[in-house]
Amino acid sequence: MTFLRTLSVIALLLAASALHAIGQEGDSKTIHDGVFTEAQAEQGAKLWEGICGECHMDEEFVGENYMSSWTNVPIAEMFDLISVTMPEDNPGSLADAEYSAIIAHMLHLNGLPAGEAELPAVYEDLQKILIQGPFQ
Ligand code: HEC
Repeated sequence: MTFLRTLSVIALLLAASALHAIGQEGDSKTIHDGVFTEAQAEQGAKLWEGICGECHMDEEFVGENYMSSWTNVPIAEMFDLISVTMPEDNPGSLADAEYSAIIAHMLHLNGLPAGEAELPAVYEDLQKILIQGPFQ
């Protein structure tokens, strides 16, 4: 019994260090690394005003209060939540690229820097981008 327990502890430790190694495999980023473009955020702003603005105010999703609830969560989770549940009166009605543009707009509103490449609209790629403070 004790021997088996020791074995399973070793197995768990090995699994944990393997996972850790995957986590460090280079290409993960945070929202501070210029993960969307200006043009994309502008496109998102128009969609936001036309669709989301019917029920939401910008301020709801700006700053520490809202954003810190997402600390260390991959942006894929935010994409998933919004694309599955919003707009509340017609969930999932936008194209994936439109949801990405809207999230780019939300990042822009939060004062995060634009970059060279668009925020992807593919879940697996969005999993490599972590939401982290500081937030404005
Ligand atoms: C018909 C009204 C309506 C529309 C349109 C709408 N929402 Fe919402 N949304 C809600 C309600 C109600 C909630 C839940 C209460 C809240 O947090 O305001 C919500 C919640 C949210 C949340 C918070 C989720 C969380 O738990 O963190 C986000 C983000 C969001 N909406 C984004 C959007 C985006 C982006 C759009 C446009 C594509 C949109 N909403 C359109 C009504 C709406």
